[in-house]
Amino acid sequence: MTAAYLDQFGPPEVLGLREVAAPPMGHAHDVLVRVHATSVNFGDTLVRNFAAVTPRAFHMPWLFWFIGKLTFGFTRPRVHILGSEFAGTVEAVGTEVTRFRSGDAVFGYCGPRMGAYAEYLCVRDDAIVARKPDRLTWEEAAGCPYGALMALGVLRKAGVQRGEHVLVVGASGGIGPWIVQLATRQFGATVTGVCGTARLPFVRAVGAAEVIDYTKEDVAARGEAYDVIIDVLGKSDVARWRPLLMPRGRLVYVSFKLRQIVWMLRTAFSHGPRVICALVNERQTDLESIATWLEIGTLQPHVDRTFLLEGVADAHRHAERGTNTGAVIISVAPFAAR
Ligand SMILES: NC(=O)c1ccc[n+]([C@@H]2O[C@H](COP(=O)([O-])OP(=O)(O)OC[C@H]3O[C@@H](n4cnc5c(N)ncnc54)[C@H](OP(=O)(O)O)[C@@H]3O)[C@@H](O)[C@H]2O)c1
Repeated sequence: MTAAYLDQFGPPEVLGLREVAAPPMGHAHDVLVRVHATSVNFGDTLVRNFAAVTPRAFHMPWLFWFIGKLTFGFTRPRVHILGSEFAGTVEAVGTEVTRFRSGDAVFGYCGPRMGAYAEYLCVRDDAIVARKPDRLTWEEAAGCPYGALMALGVLRKAGVQRGEHVLVVGASGGIGPWIVQLATRQFGATVTGVCGTARLPFVRAVGAAEVIDYTKEDVAARGEAYDVIIDVLGKSDVARWRPLLMPRGRLVYVSFKLRQIVWMLRTAFSHGPRVICALVNERQTDLESIATWLEIGTLQPHVDRTFLLEGVADAHRHAERGTNTGAVIISVAPFAAR
């Protein structure tokens, strides 16, 4: 099969097409998927250049960085085919698989195992895979799982209630717009979104009642209080956000370091504002709920731009500019058809 292959860490140009063996179906619970579309998300660009990521630059605790190095490689890549989101057709199933049949349209998330920048991907039937919503194109479906799963996990850990006011700091990237959509449409909250100038209209369009440009205004200086503050990149300390929280408010970090974990422990049993470091454990049932919400239109997919597999380096370059409003998609099927 043809795959975008990572032979060395570095800039987008290190990604090149290569003919490799298709993943073998060695297990009775294996599901072989013919990939039609995949995406470029935060994890793909991070892993592509992982040798350059220092513990300080990494947005999570040192131990996570070290586990990342063991998984993805210290000086040379251990994972050669990137791509954690996919949409495609089930090509074959193992003897014990009952959830899927050959020909089913599916979409899913394979996390750090990756492998979706290729014509075929093999996953287990208990992996994060669900039937693709009929309403969505392959490209639209491939851009949903990562952001929507993370957002749902974060909102659940935050315990967001109907009528609450949520501040989302980092509302325009891979996870933020899904937090805005789910918080407003599924959890019944009102959202204020924080992002840079270029993507303010996008964040408003996905459902934020109000948007704040962090390059022009200090959110903390507004003097408004929120039930929940979600800090996606964890760039600000607890001391900055705490005065903005309601008495029973929650400050939720999607990216965090040891100092924020210490705050979480300090506030765990407090009757006042709490700090939560939200480590999301993706669930198959969550992707099924997300598929339903996408099908009935509660959630909307957003594709910024689609590239072909041979344009994978351009796709990474585009994503790294950080100006995309929605998912950056890689279409695999047209290549397979040629
Ligand atoms: N906890 C978990 O289980 C988990 C799981 C997956 C990922 N993560 C973490 O999530 C992060 C990636 O999230 P993502 O994919 O949404 O990232 P992303 O696509 O890079 O988006 C980053 C967002 O932060 C905003 N931003 C940048 N600088 C800012 C500043 N100084 N103040 C306020 N906002 C700022 C950006 O706004 P503009 O671009 O508009 O300027 C954008 O909205 C990573 O740190 C990763 O480690 C955590």
